[in-house]
Amino acid sequence: MNVMIVSGSNRQDSNSGKLSQVIMELAIAQNLGTLDLVDLENVELPIWDHTAWQADGRCAQAFAPYAERIRQAEAYIFVVPEWNGAKPAVLANFCQYCSSSIMGHKPVLIVAVSTGVSGGYAIADMRSTFYKNTAVVYTPNHVIVRFVDTFLTQWRNEQPADENVAVVRERLEQALYSLELYARHLKPVRENLSAQLQKYPFGM
Ligand SMILES: Cc1cc2nc3c(=O)[nH]c(=O)nc-3n(C[C@H](O)[C@H](O)[C@H](O)COP(=O)(O)O)c2cc1C
Repeated sequence: MNVMIVSGSNRQDSNSGKLSQVIMELAIAQNLGTLDLVDLENVELPIWDHTAWQADGRCAQAFAPYAERIRQAEAYIFVVPEWNGAKPAVLANFCQYCSSSIMGHKPVLIVAVSTGVSGGYAIADMRSTFYKNTAVVYTPNHVIVRFVDTFLTQWRNEQPADENVAVVRERLEQALYSLELYARHLKPVRENLSAQLQKYPFGM
């Protein structure tokens, strides 16, 4: 299976980027398949507008290489830092580019990141938007990595000093396991619904 990980921070050496690397390691250990990392630290896209819908438009041209990679993936992991009680603007812009023609009826696991006690707003932001015109299927079991600095320093330990680290690591492992199941079992669903999706590419 081909899985795309989108790291949603455009900061240098972001915790989202570091956590994405951890998720990749866990996914490799679980034989999830081929992993494709899109780190928004290195992605420069114009602010999305109608030119995304014109074949030779400025936005369509800029996004074309990413669109092809997104099309190839069968499942997605969005690593979403909570910024100002929401997802970062760079990720909001990236999400605007995504469409049902390349993502429809594929599963998405959301992993929120916070250096503190928060992180729920990043989840709420993703869950309340994005799916309408992409027709993605969010898995029920998102993960919130709170106190991410502690997690990043202790996650490899057999028995981490902070017991929450082991709990969150296991939550991540379970979420990856279920993402793979969703991806596999949604394949026939996608095949069945492709004509419908072509007729109604936008949700209500
Ligand atoms: C611009 C900005 C806004 C932030 N706002 C929040 C917030 O609303 N809630 C929160 O829990 N953490 C907030 N943080 C801290 C992030 O949780 C922290 O930076 C974390 O490492 C994830 O961001 P990163 O992937 O860019 O490192 C903010 C950080 C930045 C840089």
